[in-house]
Amino acid sequence: MRVLVAGATGAVGRQLVPRLEAAGHEVVGISRRGPRPVDVLDAGAVERAVTEAAPDAVVHQLTDLGGADGAANNRVRVEGTRHLVDAARAAGVRRIVAQSISWAYAPGDGPADESVPLDATDEPPRARIVAGVRALETTVAELPEAVVLRYGILYGPGTWYAPGGAVAAALAGDAEARFLGGTAADASVSSFVHVADAADAAVRALAWPSGAYNVVD
Ligand SMILES: NC(=O)c1ccc[n+]([C@@H]2O[C@H](COP(=O)([O-])OP(=O)(O)OC[C@H]3O[C@@H](n4cnc5c(N)ncnc54)[C@H](OP(=O)(O)O)[C@@H]3O)[C@@H](O)[C@H]2O)c1
Repeated sequence: MRVLVAGATGAVGRQLVPRLEAAGHEVVGISRRGPRPVDVLDAGAVERAVTEAAPDAVVHQLTDLGGADGAANNRVRVEGTRHLVDAARAAGVRRIVAQSISWAYAPGDGPADESVPLDATDEPPRARIVAGVRALETTVAELPEAVVLRYGILYGPGTWYAPGGAVAAALAGDAEARFLGGTAADASVSSFVHVADAADAAVRALAWPSGAYNVVD
C-alpha cells in the first residue's frame, strides 16, 4: 500500500516509517522540517502534497507538542486535520488512521473503554483539549474508513519520559523538586504506551475496521 505519513519526523512517526517499510508499504512522509517540508496549517500545501503522493491511505501522527504550547497543538488537531481530510477526500483517499489520546474521556470510577463518551466538561484548560480531540476525531470520520488510535501517555525514545526529556529533567532536581505527585483532590489515573507499540498499532490499524481504539499498556 502507498501510505502518506503526516508527522513522519515526530516521536511516533520516526518509529512508524521503518515499520511500514518493513511491512512492505511505500511511504511518503511530510512535516515542516522533514525532506518534504509541508506546513499542515497551509491548506494549499497539504492539498499539493497529498495529490502528488497519491496515497492509498493517510496516517495522521501530527501533534505540535515540542514547545509545550497547547494552543499550537490544538490548531494542528483542528485546522491541520481539516486540511488533511479535505486533501485526502479530493485525492480519492478512502482510509485514514489518526493519532488521538486516551485521556479525554468523561470521568468515572474505573478504567474507560471506548464506549465512554468524551468529557463534556466546560472547565478550562481541559474543555479546550477535549474540543480539539473531538474535532480531530469527527473530522477524520468524514472519510469512508477512519481508525482513531487513542494512545496513552507516550514513553520511550524522543518522549518527555526519555533521558533528557521534560519529565526526566524534572526528576533530576533536588529531593523536593523531584516530587511530581498531585493531591488526593486532583488525583486521576492515566495509561501509558511505549512509542514502539504506538507505531506497531498504527501499522496494524491500516487493516482494522473503522472506529476508535484505546492503545495503551
Ligand atoms: N500521547 C502522548 O503522550 C503524546 C503524543 C504526542 C507527543 N507527545 C510528546 O510531545 C513531545 C513532542 O512530540 P514529537 O517529538 O512527536 O513532536 P511534535 O512537535 O509533537 O511533532 C509531531 C510531528 O508533527 C509534525 N508537525 C507538527 N506541527 C506541524 C505542522 N504545522 N505542519 C506539519 N507537520 C507538523 C512534526 O514535524 P515538524 O516539527 O518537522 O513539523 C512531527 O513530525 C514528545 O516528548 C512526545 O512524547 C506525547
